[in-house]
Amino acid sequence: MTLEPINKKEILFPEYSGTNESLLFLLNKTSQILCKWFSDSKELGPLPIDNNFKCSVPDEYGISTDTLFSEIESLIYSSFNPVHPGSLAHLDPPPLIISILGDLIAAVLNNNLLAHELSPSISQLEESICKWFCTKLNFAESAGGIAASGGTLSNLNALVAARFYAGLETNQNAVFLTSEDAHSSFLKCSRIMGLGPKSLIKVKSDNNGCMDIVDLKNTINKCHREGKKIFSIVATLGTTIRGAVDPIKNISRICKENNIWLHIDGSIGGIFAITKIPIKEINKVNCANSITINPQKILGITKTSSILIVSDMEVLKNTFVTKIPYFSSENNFLNRGELGIQGSRPAEIIKLWLGLRLLGMQGIDKVLSTSIEKKKFLEKNLNNKIYDLCSGPLHIISFLPKGMNKNESDKWTLDKSRILMNNKFMLSRPMFKNRYYLRAVLGNYNTSKFHINELLKLLN
Ligand SMILES: Cc1ncc(COP(=O)(O)O)c(C=O)c1O
Repeated sequence: MTLEPINKKEILFPEYSGTNESLLFLLNKTSQILCKWFSDSKELGPLPIDNNFKCSVPDEYGISTDTLFSEIESLIYSSFNPVHPGSLAHLDPPPLIISILGDLIAAVLNNNLLAHELSPSISQLEESICKWFCTKLNFAESAGGIAASGGTLSNLNALVAARFYAGLETNQNAVFLTSEDAHSSFLKCSRIMGLGPKSLIKVKSDNNGCMDIVDLKNTINKCHREGKKIFSIVATLGTTIRGAVDPIKNISRICKENNIWLHIDGSIGGIFAITKIPIKEINKVNCANSITINPQKILGITKTSSILIVSDMEVLKNTFVTKIPYFSSENNFLNRGELGIQGSRPAEIIKLWLGLRLLGMQGIDKVLSTSIEKKKFLEKNLNNKIYDLCSGPLHIISFLPKGMNKNESDKWTLDKSRILMNNKFMLSRPMFKNRYYLRAVLGNYNTSKFHINELLKLLN
C-alpha cells in the first residue's frame, strides 16, 4: 500500500527557534472565533437551538488546519454557552477572562504536577496557594492541600486518607456518613473504594436541608451496635439542590467525641469561607480534618479547579506516597503526584492563582456576595403563595408549585423549562425528595436584576 505524502507543514509543533508564526496565526484565529461566539451569545441563548454538530473522526491522511477550523466552529456553535445571562441551570458560571489565559498558559507550558522536576515553579505555586487557603481558613501550620480535577476527586482523596488514618483500608465493616442531601458522587466514592453500597450511610436532613443532629447521634449508636467502623462523617457546606449548610460545629463536636474524621464537602460553599460574607458556621471550617473547595463552581475559574485542604499534611503523605522510582528529587522536594489519587496532572493551579490574584479579596467578595444578593432577590419576588421555595444561605434556589405530586411535578417542570428556554432562560430540573423541581443557580455574573425580573414575569 502506498501512502500519499503528508503535508509536512501540518505537523505543527512550536519552534524552538524562530518566530513561531504558525502558532501566532492559529492563536489569533482561534481567539477571534471564540470572542465572536461570546458576543453572538446574546442572539443564541444558553443552548444551541439546532445542534448541527457532526462529529468527524480521524482519517488516513489527516486534514489541513483550514478544514479543521470549520469543524472547530461547528463544535463551538453547538456548545452550551455559560456567558449568556440566562444560563442559570448549574454550577457552571462564565469563565473569568484571566482564568481562560491560565488554561492557555498551562497548555503551552505542558508541565506536569506529577513531579517537581517536571513543574518546578508550578509545584511551588500549588503548594503556596494551598497554604494561602489554609491561612485564610485559620488552619494550623501542619495544614496543607492538593489540587485535583474536580470536587468528586477531592472528596475521594479525603475519604481515602480518612480511611487510611483510621487504619481501616482493608476492613469491610468500614463505613462513612453523609446527609441524605449530600452529593450523589459519594456513592461513586464508596464503589471506587471497594466498599459495598451499605458502606455509605445516609443521615436524615431537617426541614432546612441540614444534617439532623439527633439522627446523626442515633445513626452513630446504631453503627456501634452493629460493629460498623465509621472512618468519616461528611458535612456538606452548600448542598447541590438548595445550598444548605450542615451544622458544622455540632458535627465537629460529635466527631471529636467519637474520634472520627470530619470531612467538609465545600465544593459549592467552601470558597465563601475565605471571605467575611456572613454565613452561619462558615468560620468554623478549621475544626474539620479536611475540606474540599471547588472554585470552578462559582468564582469563574475554568474547569476543572478543585483543592482539598487537610489539617495535617502528614496524613496525605502517609496515605499516598509510593516513592515513584523514576524521579530523583534534589533538596527533598515532594512530588505532588504523591499526595493524591491523580498521577500526571495539568497545571490547573495557574488559572486559580491568576483569578485570585486579579480579583483580590474585594473582587472575590463581590463575585460571591452579588450571587447571594441575586438569589435573595429572586427568592423574595417569587410568589410564595404559588411556590414551595427551598433555599439555604447560598446562591441556589429550587422551587415547585405547592401540593404537586411526582407526576404533576414532572409535567410542570418539563413544560415550564420549555417556555423558559424559548425565552433564553436555562434552569435545571433536579429530582428532589421524589418530586421534580426547577432550580436556579445565581452564580452568573452577567445576570442582572433586569434579567431576573424578566425571569419572574415567566414564573409568577
Ligand atoms: C456538593 C457537591 N459536591 C461534589 C460535587 C462533585 O463535584 P465535581 O462535579 O466537580 O466532581 C458536586 C457537583 O455539583 C456538588 O454539588
